[in-house]
Amino acid sequence: MTDKSKVVKELFENTALYLTYDYNLQIRKETVEAFTTGLHFTHVLDIPSGTGAMSIPLLNRAEKLSLIDISANMLSIAKKNIPEENTFKTEIINADFFTLNLKENSYDLIICLGLLAHVNSPKQLLHKLSSLLKPGGMLIIQNTDSSHFYSHLIRLYLGAKNLIHKQTYKLNKVPADFIEKTLQQNNLELVKCYRYNQSFLGFSNLFSNEKKYKLTRSFFGDAVSPKHQIFGSDYTYLFKKKL
Ligand SMILES: C[S@@+](CC[C@H](N)C(=O)[O-])C[C@H]1O[C@@H](n2cnc3c(N)ncnc32)[C@H](O)[C@@H]1O
Repeated sequence: MTDKSKVVKELFENTALYLTYDYNLQIRKETVEAFTTGLHFTHVLDIPSGTGAMSIPLLNRAEKLSLIDISANMLSIAKKNIPEENTFKTEIINADFFTLNLKENSYDLIICLGLLAHVNSPKQLLHKLSSLLKPGGMLIIQNTDSSHFYSHLIRLYLGAKNLIHKQTYKLNKVPADFIEKTLQQNNLELVKCYRYNQSFLGFSNLFSNEKKYKLTRSFFGDAVSPKHQIFGSDYTYLFKKKL
């Protein structure tokens, strides 16, 4: 395990910290639903699965689901979330994704939400995901565009906050055009994208999760009927691997 993986594991073993952002998890889950409506899958890979909230709802439309996460605590919640009648088609792997030797060209849907910000090399992640996907397979991947004006605002805000409370954990800064170009070079084509903002800057504590969900939806719409997309720094992409 690399130093970065150890720090990330420690961070996400504290599941409560992450799971308080539940309006954001709800938006992610609904975006995955919207991107996959009516489709049936042979083998779905959810990396990193967290509690499995994004992929477990797909179990009725999938023959097999693999959940991978470096956090044992996230996976123990995921295990409880799997309906008993579907456990036989679910595989749970507690490991660092980069140490796993998974079979290339073997998944027809890969869901990768919330990982790019935490890895040693975003480029290595994009290569690995592309190679695991079957030709014709779909990749749903999330990234916060570091070059977007809202990301600059967030960095200013966090920089000011940091003067008071020193924060040591740093997220990767990944621009949207890096994701799009790298995946295109890996033989994937962009099909759809839904954008919104994950942060309410300094106003987060003023609103409940329910209110944040409603505000986000009323401004940005949803993945089926998106609005004001240019203002959204958080991208959830749907890519397809060329045949
Ligand atoms: C921001 S959460 C996202 C979880 C889920 N996909 C979601 O959208 O709610 C990031 C997750 O990545 C996991 N993670 C980070 N680095 C990893 C790695 N190298 N291998 C496997 N899991 C990793 C963490 O344990 C954590 O559960």
